[in-house]
Amino acid sequence: MCGIVGYAGSRQAAPVLLNGLEKLEYRGYDSAGVCVHNAEGLVAVKAKGRLSVLKDRLEGGSALPGCVGIGHTRWATHGAPSDVNSHPHLSYTGKIAVVHNGIIENEARLREKMLRKGATFVSETDTEVVANLIGYYYEKTGDFVRAVRETVTRLEGSFALGILCADLPGTIIAVKKDSPLIFGFGDGEHFVASDVPAILKYTQTVAYLEDGDMAVFDANHVTFYDSTGEEVEKVREKITWEMSAAERGGYDHFMLKEIFEQPKALRDTISPRLRDGKITLDGVELSAEYLRGLRKIYLVACGSAYYVSVLAKYIIEKNCRIPAEAMMASEFRYCDPVVDEKNLVIFVSQSGETADTLAALREAKTRGAHTLAIVNVVGSAIAKAADQVIYTWAGPEIAVATTKAFSTQLAVVYLLAMQMAKTLGTMSDEQYATIVEGLEQLPYDVDQVLSPKYLERCQYLASRCCGHHDAFYIGRNIDSGICMEGSLKLKEIAYLHSEAYPAGELKHGPISLIEDGMLVVALSTVRELFDKTMANVKEVKARGADVLCITLEDLEEQAGKIADNTIGIPAIHPMLQPSLSIIPLQLFSYYVALARGCDVDKPRNLAKSVTVE
Ligand code: G6P
Repeated sequence: MCGIVGYAGSRQAAPVLLNGLEKLEYRGYDSAGVCVHNAEGLVAVKAKGRLSVLKDRLEGGSALPGCVGIGHTRWATHGAPSDVNSHPHLSYTGKIAVVHNGIIENEARLREKMLRKGATFVSETDTEVVANLIGYYYEKTGDFVRAVRETVTRLEGSFALGILCADLPGTIIAVKKDSPLIFGFGDGEHFVASDVPAILKYTQTVAYLEDGDMAVFDANHVTFYDSTGEEVEKVREKITWEMSAAERGGYDHFMLKEIFEQPKALRDTISPRLRDGKITLDGVELSAEYLRGLRKIYLVACGSAYYVSVLAKYIIEKNCRIPAEAMMASEFRYCDPVVDEKNLVIFVSQSGETADTLAALREAKTRGAHTLAIVNVVGSAIAKAADQVIYTWAGPEIAVATTKAFSTQLAVVYLLAMQMAKTLGTMSDEQYATIVEGLEQLPYDVDQVLSPKYLERCQYLASRCCGHHDAFYIGRNIDSGICMEGSLKLKEIAYLHSEAYPAGELKHGPISLIEDGMLVVALSTVRELFDKTMANVKEVKARGADVLCITLEDLEEQAGKIADNTIGIPAIHPMLQPSLSIIPLQLFSYYVALARGCDVDKPRNLAKSVTVE
């Protein structure tokens, strides 16, 4: 969702900005723009649509000379995607240019105030209000830094801002609250961006801005201020991953690359936590006394991370015998949840920036709950705000549709549930040892399901099914959670209407929709429920459904007698089985999306990191 990049140095800014914006495309956007400070003053060029439209307009950047500038990819919130609503926005005074991520919640009031003061507006955006406020205070004070400060104290909501001033060629101000912003140090050049990939080509030395922080910089100098206006030093951190981690590396799509990275991501997430046959989650202190006193564990997240939470409910309850409930963050925060110090609230997030998850975390803390975050992006807002954090070591995930982050979140859930079960004594030593062995083996098992045999099968089935308009995913118990994720994958990248239903619930409504040719994907990997799920498969078959059944290898033949098509996956420890079940569903969605000509990595209307509620 929206991307920011800013540059001050001796290179031509426009090509650097365009390159940075290209690396931020994955976040999701519908228009883009840049503003460069040159001999003509502040020159902004903006374009609705893909970045390529802007690039063409700027002849790759060469049509816009100047060594200092800001750029933006916009995901529309206030006002439709259009050239005029695209960022950067200039103030009515013409002196200030602004790019903005986030939402200004008191935008309407501020707009009225500025209209009364004689400001004019050309767009429908909340960002133009910010530009006009800074423009106004700059006219009043003649001080760029002060004008920005006066403005940000009046803003409610979230923002990361990159700002230029016509009177100060060479200077950029960056400031943030509840929206990520990093500062990049180069040799005789400085950068600002909403995410590391935007500047990684130029520097690996960065500083993470905290809420309220401001950076005032040009090519050679930077001064950081905290929220009180005090000058502060920022810790310089080295990015340890290479640019290649955020590039496609020979794969047709990031999604496919990330699907194939799952064995490695799982190994990186699991191995460091297994020592001498024991699970050790460094930094996670959950004593037996604390766990025994818990009334309930909540798992709160959005999107695929919510589906991990649904699976976690089954895993934690079965192994730890503590009631657990998964909740969507957008619901949790406004439902007046019964949460206090007798609740552990676990937040799951790849980006660590999802607005609803972050707000729900703050809500839980206010109510006195202990909070634990499972996060992929190191140093992100959710990681920082939670009492304890367990990182998934999936590496950068670029495709909008998550795959390796989902798999590693699930792996962390296994580790956490096992550690809690061990602490509580709810699991025998033998059971524990078997699962630890299973966890060690898991990356190899996932690798098997990525072999050419499965790829070809999924590709073939996708070519058979890509003409369908609707799909149902059905399964029982833990399979029903994986069905939710499989179904989401299909709708988000292949634009195919799809719903997930617990198989036993089908008769209570959805079965009325089953008719000739309707695609039903049945997941049946819970051995003791196989017959029950197959009975539901018979019911949909009897009504004309085209059924694809994913089951355990040794049950495939039996399933094949009822379903039209089958995929058999190796049987592993039942608790870990979802990690294998999800792989053919990811591959199936990927190949259906390809067959339907969809933009797999950048599906329409979606954003990788959803920083608005
Ligand atoms: C977006 C992404 C999903 C992701 C969800 C939650 O909708 O497209 O893939 O699951 O946000 O994001 P988070 O970063 O909190 O895991």
